[in-house]
Order: sequence, then structure tokens, then C-alpha cells
Amino acid sequence: MNKKYAPFHPAVTGLLHGGDYNPDQWLSYPEIIEEDYRLMKLANCNTFTLNVFGWSAVEPEEGRYEFGWLDKIMDDLAARGLQVILATPSGARPAWMSAKYPEVLRVESNRQRNLHGIRHNHCPTSPVYRKKTRELNTKLAERYKDHPALILWHISNEFGGACHCELCQDAFRAWLKQKYGTLEKLNHAWWTGFWSHTFTDWGQIESPAPHGENQVHGHNLDWQRFVTDQTIDFYRNEIAPLREITPNIPATTNFMGNYPHMGPFTGLNYAKFGKEVDVVSWDAYPAWHSDLQQNMDLAADTAFVHDIYRSLKGGQPFLVMENTPSLVNWHQVNKPKRPGMHALSAVQSLAHGADSVLYFQWRKGRGASEKFHGAVVDHSGHEHTRVFREVAEVGKILEQLGEIRGTSVEPEVALIYDWENGWAMDDAQALKPREKNYIATCQAHYKSFWKRGIPVDVIDMDRDFSSYKLIVAPMLYMVRPGVAERLEQFVQQGGTLVVTYWSGIVNENDLTFLGGFPGPLRSLLGVWAEEIDTLYDSDRNSIRFFSEELGFGGTYEAREYCEVIHAETAKVLAKYERDYYANTPALTVNTFGQGKAYYMASRNEDRFNDDFYEQLAEHLNIRRALDTGLPEGVSVHLRSDGEHDYVFIMNFTDGSKQVELPQGSYYNLLDQQQQGSILKLSAYGFAVLKKDTDALK
Ligand code: GLA
Ligand code: ZN
Repeated sequence: MNKKYAPFHPAVTGLLHGGDYNPDQWLSYPEIIEEDYRLMKLANCNTFTLNVFGWSAVEPEEGRYEFGWLDKIMDDLAARGLQVILATPSGARPAWMSAKYPEVLRVESNRQRNLHGIRHNHCPTSPVYRKKTRELNTKLAERYKDHPALILWHISNEFGGACHCELCQDAFRAWLKQKYGTLEKLNHAWWTGFWSHTFTDWGQIESPAPHGENQVHGHNLDWQRFVTDQTIDFYRNEIAPLREITPNIPATTNFMGNYPHMGPFTGLNYAKFGKEVDVVSWDAYPAWHSDLQQNMDLAADTAFVHDIYRSLKGGQPFLVMENTPSLVNWHQVNKPKRPGMHALSAVQSLAHGADSVLYFQWRKGRGASEKFHGAVVDHSGHEHTRVFREVAEVGKILEQLGEIRGTSVEPEVALIYDWENGWAMDDAQALKPREKNYIATCQAHYKSFWKRGIPVDVIDMDRDFSSYKLIVAPMLYMVRPGVAERLEQFVQQGGTLVVTYWSGIVNENDLTFLGGFPGPLRSLLGVWAEEIDTLYDSDRNSIRFFSEELGFGGTYEAREYCEVIHAETAKVLAKYERDYYANTPALTVNTFGQGKAYYMASRNEDRFNDDFYEQLAEHLNIRRALDTGLPEGVSVHLRSDGEHDYVFIMNFTDGSKQVELPQGSYYNLLDQQQQGSILKLSAYGFAVLKKDTDALK
């Protein structure tokens, strides 16, 4: 059920606009800081993130704290009605600390300890680093607990990577002992009989290394799990004093994306981490206008990532903690967003459930590596720039859309994307080893829904399935205990499931299922997958329908992967046309209880996914954000509070488009007038329409 979520902090009344503000770099330029305040208002900003990398400014010497500057900035912002997201600065540390306590420095997988420098390179296990972080966080919490500007804690920055020091090695061994109890169990789970790798003492176990062990899949997988757990443990250590001293101030940490192929960050299992934060937030940097893909394709891939992060907490809104108002400094080509694209991409994040548009960064620094990274305020220092004007415009839009804060997205379709599944699959030396393209495959399936304006949750395999009508599980290679049973129950009770090739292959330890793939999914899907054919780029196969059951038919191209399967209890809908497996099943459906489970044995052209999911969505009567034909490149999404639907219509092309609205009465929130039945969208144009929900009619 759609509802309106309470704000994460009572002082939050609308959508957040602002972002990372680093006055700590400008303390010797007080006139610039004064000017910032004037510009913040002009840019229609309301929220700033402070102290992300402020450690050496707040604790210039061990135990000597300098909060004066931060007090002043917080007070000044509060006096101007601006709110603060306050960061704990553990993302980078002062030189005095690295010099005195080298154990805080990260050791790389080659076992070399880093020198002091850059950032995001601490040891998460180091008792010293944990203690120092905790001490500083305690001071911050005590000092600002009643500060009127404070609305949210921003813990550290973009947690990621791993440390391989001796402290971390010991922690890894302890983690393994806790998990397996005995070496015998570990040896079995890791299949260490292979290449004579059997361990006879816990002390023999080390983290994976380029010059050491890296071919034992269960070992790699457990290391990645440990890294997630250890990062979470570090995060818990950071928030402990905050929880105690400021129980009413929620906490988040900014999650990341993956680039250049726009996807979720894969280094940490965010499905797990997401449970630890009060509000999910992430840093979104899609490379618009690139020659890698068209904007509309990138829009679909970006929407997928927004949906992953939203889905971490069901329908609860998330935050875009960082995005650039113009360009970044680390893409392959650092191209500014074209006029209009900033507003469009901002509105896209709102459409998918974000309650903020926050920037990295407010003002360009004068020196060091990010001085040419986009910012609201450029080196010119005034408001008369294209970027500033576009930011101010976005601020106005956010004000006009304030009532969407807290509204939710409640899809009837879920797509399973699972971090551990991706780790295991990436490690498998099979198929085209480096081109299994798990995420891109999830996105290809997702896109068929995106094109039709069907909202989708993107969830991991441990989530509750019961609220969905349709679940799509591309390449469900790993099936953890209980998942097959829960999928069976879902279908049994009337749900529809779609599973593809290369599913049900390994268990939670990356050991293959014995007795026939897709392992524990075999009876649900009613097929046995005997072998898989990997195609060269120039190879082609095709699949042809000979059943009209789905309401469409014809021939479609199959590329890259064709699994050779046997229909056991499933009915065959399409067959391969070529090669030694010509005339064997390529698409099947198995009736299971009240529901149906489809198996796609091959990777098919996009046209197939579009036609297949269109028919399925029709049959299942799946809710679309707008029940109308959409021109190519126009995307529609929906938020609702249960009483009003907010329909976002976005044109990701550089030509004008028009959309015919289905019957109903729509109020255009940005034009502030009743919307006629034809909605015209200019290049990169968008509209947000409000209407009563159907439920109220
Ligand atoms: C990340 C970091 C920021 C900044 C930006 C630049 O998201 O969190 O500190 O470096 O990248 O795009
Ligand atoms: Zn370490």
C-alpha cells in the first residue's frame, strides 16, 4: 500500500537541495564564506553537508579539538534557515595520526602498507582508528546534539575497499571460525582438496592475494562477505556514540555507483549494509551525453540503480547525497551536462523515490585533485553562470514539488539483483569469463518495464516476495538456502516467476548443485538444463515460437548464451532453430500451484524481452505509471501517498515529444494549472502531474 512516510527528522519539511560544503578549505578566506551564504540563498538551497573531510580542521593535533570554525558555520547556516547534514570525518585522516599510529594505514592485497595520503584507505579493524573515530564522534555528538541545524549524520564517506593487515587477517580467521566452527567444514565448503589446498591450522588461512591464493571460490566469496561485515562493524563503532547522545538524529552513509557502465557499486553487499542505516543515500554520477550509450539507455540504467537503492528499504524514500551540477573530473571524458539535463536527471531521481538533490560540491576548491570537478559556484565566484542558473532553477522545482516528500513507490514487479550472486558469478571461470554481464543482463530485463512505465523494485534474493505479482530473476546462479522454497511458495500462491539460463548452479558456498541444474529450482521450473553453449560474437542462433499461449510469436535472435534444456513438467513455448540443439526447448512455462514459472534458456535480443514482458504485464494486469503509449526515450514513473498519484513524465531525447494522457483529471505541478489531454515535452523536458488515485474513485 502506498503511503506518505514521516520525514526522517521532524525539521525536514520538503525536498533537500544543497550538498557538500567544504568551508574547512576556505577558513583563511572569510569573505568567501560570507559570499557563500548569499549564494546559497540565491541557488534556492536548504541543506549542506559539512565536515566530510574535516578531521584535520577539527582535531589539528591529537586531542586538541578546534570546533570554533564549525560552530560558526553551523550557527550561520541555522541563522539563515539552512539545515546541516553533519559528517563524521573518518573518510580521511590527519597526517599526525598516520605518523604516530601506522596501523591505521591500509595494507593492500599485495601486503604492502600504504603511506599516508589520499583518502578512503584506513584499516577498519585497527583498534586505534576505531578509538580515535569514536572519540571524535563523541565530541561531535555532544557538541551539536541540540543544534537547530542538525538533521542527519553522514557517516564517513563512500565506504569501500579492504585492508589486508595482520589485524584484519586475524579478524578474518575469527570470522571464519565463527562461521564454520571446524576446519573440516571450511575445507569442505571451500573444496580445498583441489590443488592440495587443505588447511590443517586456522593460522594457515590468509585473505586472497594476487601473489597468493585467489582461485578458491568459496574463499574469495567469504572474504568479500567478511569485508562487508567488517565495514558494517566499523560503521557500528562510529554510530554507537551518536545513537547514545543523539538518539533522534538518524544516520546514513553514502553508497556508490559503478562506472563507466552505470550500475550499483559491487564491492560491498548493500542489501546487508542497507539494514544498518536509517536512510539510504547514494552518489549518482551517470555520464550523460557520452558515446558509450544514448541518454535514454543510460536513463534506464540509472533508473535501475535508483530502484535498487530505494528498494533496500521497501518504499521508503532515499536521498541522492551527491550528484554533479555539471561535470565530474574522473569520467573517461568529463563532459558538462547539456542545458536542461541537470534538471531532468534531478527529476528522474525524485521520480524513483529520492527526497533530495544534493551536490558534490558547493564550490570548486582552488587546489588539489578536485579543483576542476563541477560545483554550483565556479572559480569565477559569482552567480552569473549557466550552471548556477540551472541549479537555482532546480531549487525552484524542488520547492514546487515539496508535497511529494515522503510519498512512496510500491511496484507490483520485482527484479532480483543480488550482490553475492554477482560475486560468485564473476569468479566463475566459465562462459565468456569477463562478459557474463550480470548487471547489464538485469538491466536489459528491467528496461522492458522501464520503457512501458511499469515501476519495478530491485531486490536481493533474501527479501520477502509476497507483495509482488511478478518476479524476474535473471541469471540466478547462486541459490542460497530457503530461496527456492520461498520462490515455490510465491508461485504456488499465484505469483509469476521468470528465471533465465545459468540459474540454480551453485549453493551459498559456491559449490555446484549435484543431480542436475537448475538445482533446487528444477521442480519449480520443470526443466533440466543439461549444458550451455557460449557463442562467439559472430555466432547467431534464433528461437521460434510455436505456441500462441503468450499472445505473440515469431522468431527472435539468441546471442551469447544458449542453454540446452529438457522440459520435464514444463510446457515448451519456443524452440531453437539452429545448431545441434535445433528443435529443443528455448522458452518454457511450468504451472506450479496457482502460478506459473517461465524459463528462458537463451540470452535473447531486446525485442524479445520487450514483447515477452509486454504480454506478461498485460496478462497479469500489472499497474503502469500511465496507461498510454509512450514515445521512445520518454519514461514515466509514479510516486503516491495513497490518495494522490504523482506521475513523472520525462523526455530523455533531444527532440520534442508528446504524450496522450489517458482519461482523468491531471494537475500540472510545475505549470500550476490543469493539464490538457496532450502533454508536450521539449528536449529533456519533463512534467509532474498530480491526480487522485484510482482507489479513491
Ligand atoms: C565521491 C566522493 C566525493 C567526491 C566525488 C567526486 O562521490 O564522495 O567526495 O570525490 O566523488 O565526484
Ligand atoms: Zn587492517
